[in-house]
Amino acid sequence: MERTPEPELMDEAEQAGAYARADFEQVNTAFVDGFRQAFPWLGGSPFILDLGCGPGDIPLRLARVFPSALVQAVDGSQAMIDLAGETLSGTEEEGRIMLVTSTVQDLEPPAMPFNAVVSNSLLHHLHQPETLWQTIKRVTRKGTAVYVMDLQRPDAAEDATDLVARYAEGEPEQLRRDFYNSLLAAFTPDEVSNQLAQAGLDGLAVEVVSNRHLLVQGTV
Ligand SMILES: C[S@@+](CC[C@H](N)C(=O)[O-])C[C@H]1O[C@@H](n2cnc3c(N)ncnc32)[C@H](O)[C@@H]1O
Repeated sequence: MERTPEPELMDEAEQAGAYARADFEQVNTAFVDGFRQAFPWLGGSPFILDLGCGPGDIPLRLARVFPSALVQAVDGSQAMIDLAGETLSGTEEEGRIMLVTSTVQDLEPPAMPFNAVVSNSLLHHLHQPETLWQTIKRVTRKGTAVYVMDLQRPDAAEDATDLVARYAEGEPEQLRRDFYNSLLAAFTPDEVSNQLAQAGLDGLAVEVVSNRHLLVQGTV
């Protein structure tokens, strides 16, 4: 099936709100646990960049499992950054998480190098996926850990319909629609592998980790 791109930014209040209200407890816990296990050498105080941070649940979890980490959480949608501000407000970790409204494409390199870059469910939003890999190259240095999770595009639209029925049963219509559109906008493992090769990111590899997810990990 050909890819059908969707809008990059989730900047409509209704869409951002529906996403923020959804229960991603299990998947986000698994994401952060997987990241920690993949890079045990990171220690307790890494400087972590989260690209496309959405409503801020993953940055908060990262700051909790890495007790002295600094996290820079970036999203191009002001609606999402506002929701992330609400997520962090009043938490003990708030002071260690910097929220930045910026597209991936326009992100300024940091004054201090990142030790790790993570991203969950951003890649499939990008009309030009190479911009993610170019940004990762631009804002990192040799040895930076990279952990990028995303959906993978199924073979046919009917498979996407089945996945929505199976994994989003009972969810609000907006969320089900977004999940379906995201599956159609996602890349295949082969496409991502080609993106990495074209970017010259030889230290990163893509693997299939579930019937709907792929993972890119390694070091720059
Ligand atoms: C599906 S959400 C994932 C949010 C979060 N990573 C999570 O897992 O909960 C994708 C996010 O990427 C953001 N996004 C999409 N394109 C972007 C771009 N070009 N630059 C920065 N953020 C972008 C959207 O605004 C949205 O908040």
